[in-house]
Amino acid sequence: MANLQVEICGVKFKNPVIAASGTFGFGREYNLLYDISVLGGVSTKGTTIEPRPGNPVPRIAEGSSVILNSVGLQNPGVEHFIKEDLPFLKSKGVVIIANVAGKTLEDYGNICARLNGIADMIELNISCPNVHAGGMALGIKPQNIYEVTKLAKANLTKTPLIVKLSPNVESIPSNARAAEEGGADCISLINTFTGMVIDIERRKPILANNTGGVSGAGIKPIALRMVYEAAHAVKIPVIGMGGITCAEDAIEFMMAGARAVQVGTANFTNGNSMPEIISGMDRWLNNHGIKDVNQIVDVLTLN
Ligand code: SIN
Repeated sequence: MANLQVEICGVKFKNPVIAASGTFGFGREYNLLYDISVLGGVSTKGTTIEPRPGNPVPRIAEGSSVILNSVGLQNPGVEHFIKEDLPFLKSKGVVIIANVAGKTLEDYGNICARLNGIADMIELNISCPNVHAGGMALGIKPQNIYEVTKLAKANLTKTPLIVKLSPNVESIPSNARAAEEGGADCISLINTFTGMVIDIERRKPILANNTGGVSGAGIKPIALRMVYEAAHAVKIPVIGMGGITCAEDAIEFMMAGARAVQVGTANFTNGNSMPEIISGMDRWLNNHGIKDVNQIVDVLTLN
């Protein structure tokens, strides 16, 4: 067996495969399919200070090789998360990444303060395209990214901070650097692309919110390019995601510079995709005589 362990910001992951926020709830349902303690980590459903009911339905639609979601950050609120969901995830021995969101800058500061020292890492969600206040609005311009990151970091004395970037922007390198300058310990990307699907009989968008976030296998080449750009714009570690469905996809992201990967939409098409990706990575490394997964990080030679 190859070594699959990775360390990011002093946090040890048993392997580099992490469940992406919003595709895995808080892990309980997938734990009915397999023991989720095999995972490197879980990034939780985006959590806010107050419970949120989310957007009206329909809020999921399909496209070719992609899905669109307009969930609107439905979640039970941070106190419920701490009392009911965190103990379950802790019992599984996975790295717990609390994905957090808010309507205002102040919300982001407050939720970081509440989870400081409680979650293993915080992932700042400034990239949700489905809410009218906060979310992606704070994640487009470098100055906003810098400010929200700085505030979050000021409230996180004990817990490393990941900033999750939006792809719906002008410049990934500028935004990655803004997060780094604001004090981020790590960057994750990409969140979803804003998109639309239309019911041509009704001549209306399928999603009740009209638009939604596009994810899934179809976005992988764009995500990979953005992860490469971010990893080469900053010194802090990068976690890559966007359309990963198999071990070879995960290896591509690591070769592009990601120190770990998140798997999202693939969990919907194949509930066992993450354990399969972990064993597939091990197999690939063994077949290529590579003893340690860290040896494939950032090894790309451009043509
Ligand atoms: C949502 O809840 O609308 C999706 C979350 C996200 O894209 O960050």
